Amino acid sequence: MTGGSSGIGAALAQELGKRGWRPVLLARREDRLREVAGECDGEYEVCDVGDREAVERAARRILERHPRIALLVNNAGIPGRAGFLDIEPARLEEVLRINFLAGVWCLRAFLPGLEAAGRADLVNVVSVAGTVAWPASGPYSASKHAQLAFSRSLAGELRGRGITVHTVNPGFVETEGFPQRGTLGSTLLRRVVIDPDDVARHIVRVVERGRRETFVPWWYRSAALVQAIVPGLLARVVPRSR
Ligand SMILES: NC(=O)c1ccc[n+]([C@@H]2O[C@H](COP(=O)([O-])OP(=O)(O)OC[C@H]3O[C@@H](n4cnc5c(N)ncnc54)[C@H](OP(=O)(O)O)[C@@H]3O)[C@@H](O)[C@H]2O)c1
Repeated sequence: MTGGSSGIGAALAQELGKRGWRPVLLARREDRLREVAGECDGEYEVCDVGDREAVERAARRILERHPRIALLVNNAGIPGRAGFLDIEPARLEEVLRINFLAGVWCLRAFLPGLEAAGRADLVNVVSVAGTVAWPASGPYSASKHAQLAFSRSLAGELRGRGITVHTVNPGFVETEGFPQRGTLGSTLLRRVVIDPDDVARHIVRVVERGRRETFVPWWYRSAALVQAIVPGLLARVVPRSR
């Protein structure tokens, strides 16, 4: 699992650990990885998943220890924290590399292990922002739209290889990288913020039940529908958010 050192990834590691899985966590902060892996009886590899060669090296090491991989979770992600006009070019490239390209590199690098398992699951943690373009968070939204297209098209590309693709679109979740309760301007939006444990339990359920594309909470699907049916409306009514 990528992004296992905090937030949704760390919560999912605990949830999987409780169910007898042995998660292998990838992220950059070794101290945090060691702590989370210790709590879930898992393992870790320090890896910048935005760096394709680093992903390939980490995957080689992991596949030597675990030639069969039953579950890959592409979860690592960062916020953009600015619109297209203001974001630093380097940050924009980083957002696209980590939120979108990292998932592609990880899938390609771990594919032999997933295929060797005979039957495996791939979870892509995308976002409601992959279905709706919010004002002032265009770069993040664009990276998540790309990740959503990646996830949806993979479902077809991987058909026949024994790998089920699950796309999970969380709404606002309170985490280190996305401190929503402190940054959301509207009280109404702050009230709908959920915790990483809620998303972790949701991910386990969608894998167990074979669900393909879900929103957590479920009612965010209506935002995606409004965006599809009345494009532009949400951009006018949704306040500044990331
Ligand atoms: N929180 C929300 O409101 C929300 C809503 C919808 C979707 N999401 C998505 O959920 C996913 C998890 O985010 P989170 O909310 O749990 O945030 P978080 O607590 O900040 O966790 C992000 C994780 O990604 C890892 N990461 C970031 N850059 C990385 C890199 N270059 N290489 C390896 N690992 C990297 C971080 O680890 P290191 O810093 O140690 O590398 C951390 O473990 C993201 O894809 C995010 O877009 C979040």
